[in-house]
Amino acid sequence: MTNDPTFWNNAARKYAASPVGNETAYHRKLAMTQKLFSPNSLIAEFGCGTGTTALHHAPHVNHVWATDGSEKMIEIAWDKARQAGIENVLFEVADIDDYRPEPGRYDVVMMHSLLHLLKDRRSAIRKAGVMLKPGGYFVTNTVCLTGLWRFIWPVIGFMRLFGQAPLLKFFSGEALARDIEAAGFAIEEFWKPDNGVAVFIIAQKPASADT
Ligand SMILES: C[S@@+](CC[C@H](N)C(=O)[O-])C[C@H]1O[C@@H](n2cnc3c(N)ncnc32)[C@H](O)[C@@H]1O
Repeated sequence: MTNDPTFWNNAARKYAASPVGNETAYHRKLAMTQKLFSPNSLIAEFGCGTGTTALHHAPHVNHVWATDGSEKMIEIAWDKARQAGIENVLFEVADIDDYRPEPGRYDVVMMHSLLHLLKDRRSAIRKAGVMLKPGGYFVTNTVCLTGLWRFIWPVIGFMRLFGQAPLLKFFSGEALARDIEAAGFAIEEFWKPDNGVAVFIIAQKPASADT
């Protein structure tokens, strides 16, 4: 079941209204991802939130299947798709933890600002590997908190008692890269914009891989 569905449902309107943190870095990540696309590409996204990234990518590909564990997030994503007149995105409520991957269907699988919220990120990464065609790409932007950030853990734990914070896992970008490699991917990009806490990774499934 989705971690903290109530938290994310309650957060959805505010999340939709808040601006992207670092516009320049965001647009560079979009451009780096779009280099992986062809007009025939099939894209899947987990934890799509209100669909901003899926809707940016949709005009460049054949189809996007974008999912989130929060039904409120998905409602807003559908509103945004209708307003933009974008018809090649299917938004659905789906939880990565429960999802049984369909092997070898997608060209690109994305998980942005999601892996640090999961109990088992390694399982999610392995699912991406199953879903991808050989030679396909896993793309993730992940908040990687280590070092002094660990001191916020008690605060998060306290806030969680009152439903005011989601589950949050602490790991480094380097540890995440190792997890991705352990799932059989080759890392092509590892970028920390402004040396901040977010790590953007593009990783390729081997072209010869069995699905
Ligand atoms: C920080 S938001 C990121 C949204 C969007 N990807 C972005 O980058 O703006 C995290 C999203 O992950 C979703 N989420 C959390 N746990 C999930 C799970 N187990 N399966 C699917 N979605 C999940 C939440 O509902 C929320 O919309």
